[in-house]
This record gives sequence, structure tokens and C-alpha cells, in this order.
Amino acid sequence: MRFSVIAILLGAFLSGCAEDPQPAVTAVPGSTAETGTEQPVADALVADAPTGVEDPHSFANPEAVLTTHLDWDVDVNFDDKVISGTATLDLDRQDPGASELVLDTRALQINSVRGLPSGDHREFTLDEEDPALGSALRVALADDDTAVAIDYQTSPQASGLQWLDPVQTAGGEHPFLFTQAQAIHARSFIPLQDTPQVRITYDATVRTPTELRAVMSAANDPDAVVDGEYQFSMPQAIPSYLIAIGVGRLDFQAMSDRTGVYAEPSVVDAAAYEFADTERMIEVSESLFGPYRWGRYDLLILPPSFPFGGMENPRLSFITPTVIAGDRSLVALIAHELAHSWSGNLVTNASWKDLWLNEGFTVYLESRIMEAVFGMQRKAMEDVLGYQSLQEDFEQVSEGDARLVPDLEGRDPDDAFSNVPYEKGRLLLVYLEDQFGRETFDRFLRDYFDAYAFESLSTGEFLAYVDKNLLQRYPGKVTLADLRQWIEEPGLPDSAVLPTSDAFANVDAVRNQFISGEVGADALAADQWTVHEWLYFLNNFGGALTVQKMKQLDDAHSLTTSRNAEIAHSWYRLAIEQHYEPALPAIREYLHGIGRRKLIVPLYRDLMETDWGKPIAQEVYAKARPGYHPLAQGTLDDIVK
Ligand code: BES
Ligand code: ZN
Repeated sequence: MRFSVIAILLGAFLSGCAEDPQPAVTAVPGSTAETGTEQPVADALVADAPTGVEDPHSFANPEAVLTTHLDWDVDVNFDDKVISGTATLDLDRQDPGASELVLDTRALQINSVRGLPSGDHREFTLDEEDPALGSALRVALADDDTAVAIDYQTSPQASGLQWLDPVQTAGGEHPFLFTQAQAIHARSFIPLQDTPQVRITYDATVRTPTELRAVMSAANDPDAVVDGEYQFSMPQAIPSYLIAIGVGRLDFQAMSDRTGVYAEPSVVDAAAYEFADTERMIEVSESLFGPYRWGRYDLLILPPSFPFGGMENPRLSFITPTVIAGDRSLVALIAHELAHSWSGNLVTNASWKDLWLNEGFTVYLESRIMEAVFGMQRKAMEDVLGYQSLQEDFEQVSEGDARLVPDLEGRDPDDAFSNVPYEKGRLLLVYLEDQFGRETFDRFLRDYFDAYAFESLSTGEFLAYVDKNLLQRYPGKVTLADLRQWIEEPGLPDSAVLPTSDAFANVDAVRNQFISGEVGADALAADQWTVHEWLYFLNNFGGALTVQKMKQLDDAHSLTTSRNAEIAHSWYRLAIEQHYEPALPAIREYLHGIGRRKLIVPLYRDLMETDWGKPIAQEVYAKARPGYHPLAQGTLDDIVK
């Protein structure tokens, strides 16, 4: 019954579905007439798509007045930890009678608003602040306003900025600033329509202390003179969550004609060595997914407090230094951020509950890139490790968040962050690849990126597109009901194609021999193991380790002092489980030195679970907290109490 309803709805809107060339800027028709009635989840998923989707995380009114371009003219003031200046937004009226522009802001001080071209002052009000969403800025427009110029400044506590003292940098002499706008933090440093359904181009003029360099998610000139004033232009229309800036004592090193790294001077050589395969990754991606449409692709290496592994800011991915392992073992992260140049930056999730359209696709693309550049063995190992992180998260998250499309209504998207949209999303695409065959699925992918280039879409729209271009074109393989199960049910359908690795089967055997005492720690034959084999070895003891065995492993393989941040992380989780005291000083140092959430949050969580660990966590956190990013602080404040 429900199936036939969904089929009818799909049929009804397929006719209006995207096949024609798309405009670079997506207008957002506001009507929700077709979703007005009470519908079960999946029906709503499908029915709401063609009318423009509600974004519950934005106050903006793009359906009435659409912003199309940003001119950003600002000073970066490290003494006051404030960005101040003018944001000028070009307006495109969707509703000719609209008299109000609504923007998103968060903890911004708005000094004045002028209408352009007249330059006359405009009345504005700031609504009361919502703790997760910030405040709506309402500007009374005059009929002839084609742009507004907003004079404003940020708060030192802006959620999307981290201001680092010199001691938190590699060089130790200069401060550093970076932004992290995804999901809804752009509004804490620019007043704008902060929804992934609106795309804007931008120009920027940024003034900094003279010895520092600014770089942005825009055209960066590697030869720009470091003099404290920088110009940027982003000619492709992007959603607000991809606007980004980094400011610090940065050098540049080229890796190929179109790739390079920006990093602090003491880091730049190691980074250029580590990520030397970036050009090959782009070539492989272009052959698989279509042209790279963004000009250059550079990397910005951040200080270790960066709360993520990476962030796909267009033309300039932001990267944690914790993946510079010296042996290129953790570069899947680069494949991931690069892959977002197709899934996410080119074709964008319409709202944050559709995050899997960004991240699930990207993990799938990442895995394809790794396979093409480094071979099946490595890809298989990385897939298994990713799948294991999904299994761990299925035990952590609520049933609702174990669905591919969680209900985020009334919630902060940061609070719903997990591996589910990443790894379950990837497995859905692997399932489709498996059913339709790689050749067909690859063609489908390329067509999809073309059809929705510089557009955003919802899960419902995606389903309609898959239905038309795969299910109906190659009938008898997958039904809409199969897809609905993937989208609506928690956990994984039985049809999921789970990853396996021969290399890991061997590691399982060795682990068992070590546990039973058949093989000693020094006879593991692990000297040839890759980082991935080590991670799999460490992550799957299932409680069968002892302090004595840990000591033997440590003596033979120096795990406590591992320079690989992932191996250290896995080892420290075991150390916490076993109360292995010799690792404690290193664990403290690690928690002080690194702010990447994925690496530190599980350690704090594990520590907090025992009477032994709790005081350690509390003591370390009290000292380390000021050095963490606001996002990491927010996550950890709920864990370490
Ligand atoms: N876009 C994400 C980071 C993100 C997601 C920030 C949601 C805010 C909200 C980025 O591409 C990412 O997925 N990073 C991962 C990389 C990993 C999966 C290879 C990370 O930081 O761990
Ligand atoms: Zn990602």
C-alpha cells in the first residue's frame, strides 16, 4: 500500500525532474503545498523534493529574496580575536513584492545596514537568539535595493572560528586563525543565508598582520606577496558552509602544476612529501567521475587543534597534521576531501538530514580513488576498518540516528554527527554497484554529477533520479521497496555487501596465536605489517588482552610512542581498557597536543567509564580544554563532567 503511494508520487514528479542544464544558482521555491498533509517518512521524503525542501536550520527567506554574490571586506584582528568589516550581498528578488531580507547570524554585532545602490541606511532587527541556530537578522528593504552592505564584527567566542595562540602552532611564534563553517557556523563570521540550498559566488579583501598570509576557499595565488592584504575571488557558486579562511605564518610548496600545500614553514616539506599522490588522485577521479571543475586543488595544513580530519573547502581542503605519518599511510583522507569536489561541493545536500548525499557518496568515491591509485588490497583493508567504525557507532547512537536520514528537526546538526551517513551511505552505493554492475553504475554516477552540477538535492529527489535512471532503465534488479529499506530502517539490510580483506584474515589468525600464547609478541612477523594491519590487529582484541601481553607488545613494537596518530589512538584505547599505566604520560600528552575529535573523544569517553580513568580525564580536560576548538569543547563538555 505504501509502496504504491510512493510509486505514484514518484511518477508524478519525475516529469519535472532535472535533466536539463541547470542554472548555477538554485532558486528555492518556498511552497510546501504538496507536503502539507501528514505523510509517513518516506512518502514525505519523496513528495517534498520538487518544491524546494524546508531547511529547519536556517531562518533565511531565499524563496522571497535570494542572495547571489558576497563581497567580503574585512580586517582580521588577533589582539581582540575579532573579524570586522563589511559584507555586501547581491540580491535577486524571487518575490517582486518582498520587503524584508532575512539572514542568519550568530553572536554577530551588526553596526549598520545600507541599501545599494543608494547607500541609504536601512532599518534592521536581530531576533532573540536560538541556542543552536543563532539569530535572524531582518532587514527592511527599499524597492530599488539590489544589494545590502552590512557593517559588522564577530564575537571572540564565534563558533566557526578558532583563534590560536603562538604556542598552539608548529612554529610557536605567530598566532593562527581558521574557520570551520560546516554545518551551520558560517553565520558566526558572516551574516548570510546559511543554508546549503543557496549558492553564492564571492570576492574578498582581507587585511591581516603584515607577516601573516591569508588563504581562502577561492582562487589563491601561490606567489602572492606576504604583505598583510589579500584579494580572493570564488567564481563558482558555492553553498555558505564552504566559505573558509585560514591565516597564519604559511609557506607554499607546489606538488604539481595544479596542486600544492600551504603549511607552517617547519611542516611544509613533510606535508608535500606525504601528499605527493594528490595529482594522481585528481587524474583518477576525473577519469571516473568527470572533470574537476574548480581550477587548482591545494591543501592547507592546520595546527593540531583542527577538530576534523579534513574539510573539503573548495580549491583548498583543510587538513589535520595528524595524518602526516611519514609513510603516506593515512592519505585516504586526501582522497576523501578531494572526492567532495564532486559529491558535496558540486552536488550538494539540500539540508543537513541529507548529509549522506555528501558523505556517503564521498566515502564511496574515496574508496574508488584508493583502489585505483593504491590497489585492491589497501582499499579492502580501509573498507573493513570503515565498516568496523560503523558497527561501533550503531551501538552508540539512537535508533533514529541509525537511519540514513535522521530527523534533525529541533536539533543541532553537530549533535547528530556519526559514521552512519558515511559508511551506511557508502554501503548503499556499493549495493547499487553490485546489483547493476560497475560499468553501468559508473555511467550513472557521471550522469548524476552532470545533472545536478552546482545544485542541491534532497534524498527524495535522489530516489526519484535513481528510480528513473537505474531501477526503471534496468528492471528486475532493485525495487523502490529495497531502497526504502536502506533509507528508512535503522541498521543494515541483509542485502548489504560487506567488505572483506584477506590480509586481515591473516591478522586474525596471528592475533589468536598471540592470545593463546602460541606466538610471542616479538615473533608476530608484524614488521611487514602496514598501518592498516596494525590497526585491525589492535582494534579487535575484544577484551582478550592483559597488562602482561600489552607490556610484551610494547617492548617489541614501541606502541606507546608510535608516531602514527591512528595507531597511537587504537593502542591508547587498549591501554585505558587494561589500565596499562606505562602509557599514561603519552596519553596525557596526546590529549593535550591534538584536538581532532575522532581521535580524542573516544579516549575521553573510555576514561570516563571507569573509576580509574575518570579523574584522569577530568584533570587532563581541565588543562587541555582552552586549547580545543569550540566544537570539540561542545562535544567534550557533555562527556567529561
Ligand atoms: N565534511 C566533513 C567534515 C564535517 C562533516 C564537518 C559534517 C562538519 C559537519 C569532512 O569531509 C569529513 O568527512 N572529514 C572526515 C574525514 C574522514 C571521513 C576521511 C573527518 O574529519 O574525520
Ligand atoms: Zn567528508
